Amino acid sequence: MLPTSSTAPILSAKRISKIYNTGGTTCAALRDISIDISPGEFIAIIGRSGSGKSTLINLLAGLDVSTSGEIISRSDSITDITKLSEEELARWRGKNVGIVFQSFQLLPSLSVLENILMPMDLCNIIPKAERLTRAKSLLDDLEILHQSDKLPSELSGGQQQRAAIARALANDPNIIFADEPTGNLDTTTAKSVMDLFAVLCLRNKSVVMVTHDLALTDYYSRTFELADGVQIVSEDVT
Ligand SMILES: Nc1ncnc2c1ncn2[C@@H]1O[C@H](COP(=O)(O)OP(=O)(O)OP(=O)(O)O)[C@@H](O)[C@H]1O
Ligand SMILES: [Mg+2]
Repeated sequence: MLPTSSTAPILSAKRISKIYNTGGTTCAALRDISIDISPGEFIAIIGRSGSGKSTLINLLAGLDVSTSGEIISRSDSITDITKLSEEELARWRGKNVGIVFQSFQLLPSLSVLENILMPMDLCNIIPKAERLTRAKSLLDDLEILHQSDKLPSELSGGQQQRAAIARALANDPNIIFADEPTGNLDTTTAKSVMDLFAVLCLRNKSVVMVTHDLALTDYYSRTFELADGVQIVSEDVT
């Protein structure tokens, strides 16, 4: 194992492509995309519908596998995640990334607190004795501690999204991937989610977020734009 450098990107995709094959037709959803994600960056992935934003975030988060290219993770050792087995990739995800979806995807039959405890129990990274305190502290940070015992369906959209963010942070990941996390939220709640992500970046976490909402550009350190599966621009906005 090689030591990691603190200045190196925590995740680097090198010329990744994704070709979907469905029912005899192929769709080149991404072509030769390269992106570096450094600690503390807040990156917005933008582009029109169908341009490949979700595909890119799913590949970077290890939820799906690229057709070609490398994705180098430098979290604790240097690993090309495209070479990992399904089981190794699941372990990598559990330890290194937090994922937030537009539709929350909380488990409906578990309480809010149980939804936060579940990834900790699954991944076994946080010591058992610390899990309950940690889950409660995350819920407190997100101002929904008083909703701990409720089912997700008993929460508002904004509260469910905050529970989903608490769940994504459960194992203290270095990178948070979010696919249109504010898409179902009103402007005020969307802003509070963005403020939360900004605080995470200040703590040297990286946030990579798919968004259509360019009213929120002030938050991003960089935008990464896709058109028809190809990167068209990457610019610093700070
Ligand atoms: N599972 C799949 N099987 C086949 N084709 C797919 C699959 N997922 C996505 N695609 C295709 O890949 C392309 C990129 O899709 P993707 O979902 O990444 O776009 P997007 O930028 O996230 O769009 P939106 O803004 O609408 O969410 C589209 O042409 C889409 O039809
Ligand atoms: Mg999408």
